[in-house]
Amino acid sequence: SKPRMTVPRFRARKRGEPLVCLTAYTYPMARLLDPLCDLLLVGDSLAMVVHGLDSTVPLDLDLLLAHARAVRRGAETALMVVDLPFGSYEASPTQAFETACRVMKETGAQAVKLEGGTAQAATVRFLVDRGIPVMGHVGLRPQSVHLYGGYGAHGRNREDWQPIIDDAYAVADAGAFGVVVEGVAEPLAREITEALAVPVIGIGASAACDGQVLVIDDMLGMFDRAPKFVKRYAALGDEITRAVSAYAEDVRARRFPGPDQTYGLKDDGGRS
Ligand code: KIV
Ligand code: NA
Repeated sequence: SKPRMTVPRFRARKRGEPLVCLTAYTYPMARLLDPLCDLLLVGDSLAMVVHGLDSTVPLDLDLLLAHARAVRRGAETALMVVDLPFGSYEASPTQAFETACRVMKETGAQAVKLEGGTAQAATVRFLVDRGIPVMGHVGLRPQSVHLYGGYGAHGRNREDWQPIIDDAYAVADAGAFGVVVEGVAEPLAREITEALAVPVIGIGASAACDGQVLVIDDMLGMFDRAPKFVKRYAALGDEITRAVSAYAEDVRARRFPGPDQTYGLKDDGGRS
């Protein structure tokens, strides 16, 4: 079996074999993904894809922690990273440290991820200096959806590149061991990936990155509002509809449960 992924081993994969990352929110999914992935992210996207909220903004820290504990029980070898939810870290480095401490102590995660670049660099440094590995997240930052007014791509004009490049540099300089770059045009993603000394993990950010991440429900066809950049590798939503329709028909026709799923009496000749 493969050895446990660590932060230094992950970081050393810069410009190496592309890093395979996915989100996970539950124990059974973590068990399935763990042997196949380098990193499992308990992303705040769970607010939308699991809890049906309109954005990640309302996500409650305690709810995220409960999911993270479940994922930890199923994650044996992949690097486990947990998002810091909106409002739990932005006010100050101390606020971020207190939240990140809860994540590390209560879930068994190996690292946290937070959104923001230049504005969060001091916080990234504060956490790393105190022993907490941090991933950055720049470009499209879903927690700022109300500032942008939507989830459109970033950096599609060269004039808009500099602040995003500055953000990526700032968190990497501050000690982040990796940076997620979301929803940016390919040439910008390539420029950031070439510039940074740590792995750049793309989502909607082209194949130029050092690795990729997707929201598991999006790629499995479980979420009906998946963004354009998602490739659907399965249609599990359709498969569930098919299975449950068959079950409903069976129940209505009294075809389920059948003899194989039915207990008899112990002394009726072995049928039980
Ligand atoms: O919350 C999330 O799922 C993320 C990603 C990078 C996919 O932040
Ligand atoms: Na996130």
